[in-house]
Amino acid sequence: MYELPKRPAVDTRRLLLESEWPLKICAPMVRFSKLPFRMLVRKYGCDVTYTSMIMSDSFRASAAKRSHEFITCQDEKGPVITQFAANTVDDFVQASQLVVGYCDGVDLNCGCPQRWAMHDGYGASLLYSPRKIFEIVRQFNNQVQHESAFTISVKLRLLDNLSETIDLYRQIESCGVSFIGIHSRTHKMRSEPAEHDQLAEIVKSLQVPVIANGDCFNLNDYHKIADLTKAKGIMSARGLLENPALFAGYENTPLCCIEDFLTLCIKYGFNFVSFKKLFYWMIERNCSKSERLNILACQSMSQFMDYFKDNFNSDFGK
Ligand SMILES: Cc1cc2nc3c(=O)[nH]c(=O)nc-3n(C[C@H](O)[C@H](O)[C@H](O)COP(=O)(O)O)c2cc1C
Repeated sequence: MYELPKRPAVDTRRLLLESEWPLKICAPMVRFSKLPFRMLVRKYGCDVTYTSMIMSDSFRASAAKRSHEFITCQDEKGPVITQFAANTVDDFVQASQLVVGYCDGVDLNCGCPQRWAMHDGYGASLLYSPRKIFEIVRQFNNQVQHESAFTISVKLRLLDNLSETIDLYRQIESCGVSFIGIHSRTHKMRSEPAEHDQLAEIVKSLQVPVIANGDCFNLNDYHKIADLTKAKGIMSARGLLENPALFAGYENTPLCCIEDFLTLCIKYGFNFVSFKKLFYWMIERNCSKSERLNILACQSMSQFMDYFKDNFNSDFGK
């Protein structure tokens, strides 16, 4: 990314506040929220995209990590938010400084529930050491040189108790965060339904714009969550993996979207194992299990392309 000229940031906070409808947002997703996928979902109706979670300590320390972990291009439209995992103020601040001018904001991951994250003081474990969150937001605002349009946000989960959750979020708000994203589950919840009722209460209690996340699988869900919570943005993760065109109103991934995905992956590159998984999910509702397993069995992109040309009714690459 560092070969690119720096560019002015698009102000996500302003967009959230001024848009007539809640912004449609693609969640950060490890392995998948890479340049081709971000460009794909944007083509199909997303207003804001996030990068995958990036470890701020190695990003800060290693140029090789930086060129591997954060790839953008001149054709990628903002807002793009870079999400960092951090367990120290310095790592977050230094890593953030390195992406100013190449994206539109940074986000602190306070939601990852995985065992390594909880053990090492990253992700959702920060919810239980909130002073670190406060300090990270404050020191970002004090130390990182950025224009006012460049945002600092935090992606959080719920605590067990709603009034404690609201109290925590208010304190984060008072540290100068631009907006917050809320995955409305606690760190212990897995496939239980997201707690959108709690979100509605939270939105009423905060001044900063809130992005609602959890269980948005189609445009109907988008409208339901928007009506119930009054959030300024609706974020989808698994829904967009299954159907990157969901915000454009498609019920299932249309063939044109699959073809666009192939074009973008060929142009910008995508890890082949992740590519196959993503492809598998995208066609899950349209293809039989055996067809999908055939995709997973492909050993290379050229083998995949041969399978695709023979089995999908597409002119792509012909
Ligand atoms: C494959 C995958 C990778 C994810 N990676 C991240 C990540 O890097 N950072 C993050 O904050 N959340 C991550 N999440 C959580 C999602 O951003 C989101 O909060 C969660 O899936 C709930 O949204 P959903 O109900 O729309 O899936 C990931 C989720 C999935 C399914």
